[in-house]
Amino acid sequence: MNIKKTVLLPLITAGLLAAAPGVMAAKFKMALGDAAGGTQWELGQTFKTLFEQKAAGKHTVDLFPNGQLGDEQNTVNNAALGTLDFSVLAINNVTPFSPSVGVLTLPYVIQSAEDAKKLTLGPLGKELTENTIRDAGVRIVGWAYSGFRVLTNSKRPVTTLADLKGMVIRVPKNEIMIATYQSWGINPTPMAWSETFTALQQGVVDGQDNPYITVSAMKFNEVQKYITNVRYLFSLEPLIVSESVFQEQKPDVQKAILEAGMEATEHSYKYLLETEDKIKKELAAKGMQISDAADGEKEFIEKATKAVWPKFYESIGGKAKLDQALKSLGR
Ligand code: MLT
Repeated sequence: MNIKKTVLLPLITAGLLAAAPGVMAAKFKMALGDAAGGTQWELGQTFKTLFEQKAAGKHTVDLFPNGQLGDEQNTVNNAALGTLDFSVLAINNVTPFSPSVGVLTLPYVIQSAEDAKKLTLGPLGKELTENTIRDAGVRIVGWAYSGFRVLTNSKRPVTTLADLKGMVIRVPKNEIMIATYQSWGINPTPMAWSETFTALQQGVVDGQDNPYITVSAMKFNEVQKYITNVRYLFSLEPLIVSESVFQEQKPDVQKAILEAGMEATEHSYKYLLETEDKIKKELAAKGMQISDAADGEKEFIEKATKAVWPKFYESIGGKAKLDQALKSLGR
């Protein structure tokens, strides 16, 4: 969506006027879709500390975890309208507003945390940041690296596509993820993140996918028994700021936002590398049964890349965009 400044200005709330340059200290609000304790929280808290230091105590940021400020996709709308300042959310919940970002969520493009960092901080990541400002009215100022989304379910161990047959799997409202599951022979259930825990608990759905650290932060171990290590999607969780709010700030505040965002991103990368394995062991100790996909995940990879990549060339800006991403990763 193209949010024009003329449309946005009348919508700027009293709270945002308080953030206007030279008026008074701003109290920014940051939405988090996840519960406290995961990678979103770590990025948000680190950003808050760094930004408040850089803003010399003049401006503050308060975090609102657990979808308190709305479902992840709604936070993009609210930030675009300027009624929310910041949000940390999964990249798959940004794609519906800025389809070219989908190149980061095509199955099996990102194959390691290093790939994820290279893509997001390289020329392609910068281009996608510009695209989200244009398309969605929000600016990406940092990234949480959350690890591969693993498949969890309450029914049985899954190592092959045949094991997956008949299961009801929740996915975000994201076309690429829906198409990926369809390529694996099942019709997933698109559902907002905020409804997922209850749906798993009540057996409305059997399973879902999210990174280990998110599974733990959301206490999914209480309602899920089995984990399958699949690596189709590396979870990137951008920190976005409302572009209209950003443009309202003095240059020194803008600089503090950008610097704090990049430093928090570096922290997030280290946090993932130091934490993921420990969390995986904790989930196993709590009774979750963890399996690898059979045969090096071959059938999952072949089906998804063959069916899904070509389907989304147009929305990501052409096959050349995927080629650019793969080339920058040395493939
Ligand atoms: C989702 O599954 O909708 C998101 O990945 C949730 C999240 O942000 O952790």
